Amino acid sequence: MTQLLGAALRGTGSCLPARVVPNDEFTEVLNLDTTDEWIRTRTGIRERRFAGSGESSATLGTDAARKAIESAGLTPADIDLIVCATVTPDLMCPATANLIQAALGCRHVPAFDIAAACSGFLYALSVGAQYVRTGAAKHALVIGAEVLTRTVDFTDRNSCILFGDGAGAVVLSGTPVLTAGVRTIRLYSDGSRQELIQVPSRVTPNPPPGPPQLQRLDYMRISGREVFRFAVTRMVELIEQARADARELGLSGIDVLIPHQVNQRIIDAALESTEFPADRVVVNLDKYGNTSAASVPIALDEALRAGRCKPGDTVLLVAFGGGLTWSSALVTL
Ligand code: UT7
Repeated sequence: MTQLLGAALRGTGSCLPARVVPNDEFTEVLNLDTTDEWIRTRTGIRERRFAGSGESSATLGTDAARKAIESAGLTPADIDLIVCATVTPDLMCPATANLIQAALGCRHVPAFDIAAACSGFLYALSVGAQYVRTGAAKHALVIGAEVLTRTVDFTDRNSCILFGDGAGAVVLSGTPVLTAGVRTIRLYSDGSRQELIQVPSRVTPNPPPGPPQLQRLDYMRISGREVFRFAVTRMVELIEQARADARELGLSGIDVLIPHQVNQRIIDAALESTEFPADRVVVNLDKYGNTSAASVPIALDEALRAGRCKPGDTVLLVAFGGGLTWSSALVTL
């Protein structure tokens, strides 16, 4: 019988592109019919980062991973598994995780991508945690890396103002202490609502007629209002469920909540409904917008480095997005 281990969160890292894009740029440079005031009051976003020339999910993910490995006190040679969550891979093949493996100089360990949109990091974390808990990997590198701004339609004011680029990473390590690290992970999906958030690919079954250069095949499309309602409902459910999980595990409660960074109004509505104290919630969407699979690990890394959470704290990570997917993880630091 396999002796289960704990999956401790041993290190974190993040990487944001240098280029800051304030709200005004959509009006002044892109001539979009929007305002800084609308974007700030309807979303909470003030600015976001855009990947520049030479930057990609793989390069941002590599930088975040390097920092996570360093903060874990390890070297790339110690890593036994690489899982990268992304819906904006550099290539359809090979996986972004392979590119990161090569850039870091890791051993010939398993490396693969997971596509679960904004829930991707928590899906990847569940895989990393299972490898570590069963002893199949001693140190698992789990990354969320995205360059979603390369998929948005800059003439669509409903969506293009929401997104930013970036990457976050964690190292999970096996520990005999079963009460440390990842305690519970809950993952859900509902493919019947797939049309609410889509980024078509070049291998779509229904390519429109016409020359490829005129086809706006891979632009993201979202139904913002419907996603808003879905996000609030699911975030409320996930918080309530995590509270019950925490009680069952004998934890004193949830010390810090790190939600997917989509829209301040979604977070506020969920907090109001669950009466979760706002001062225990980590929010950085004002600086980075929605970075999809990267949003939770970036916020986690920043929160740890800023002392917003400390060893012994129980942190609730919550995410939701395309699929539709929704997910949570309770982690004791
Ligand atoms: O992570 C998953 C992906 N994320 C999402 O799908 C985002 C979730 N949804 C949201 O964050 C919000 O629904 C939005 C920010 C997208 C939209 O906010 P809203 O309060 O739900 O606005 P709305 O869609 O109800 O639109 C209200 C009005 C509309 O004008 P009319 O029809 O009332 O004349 C929109 O055309 O706001 C208009 N509008 C804008 N106006 C100025 C939409 N985007 C903009 C904009 N600037 N950027």
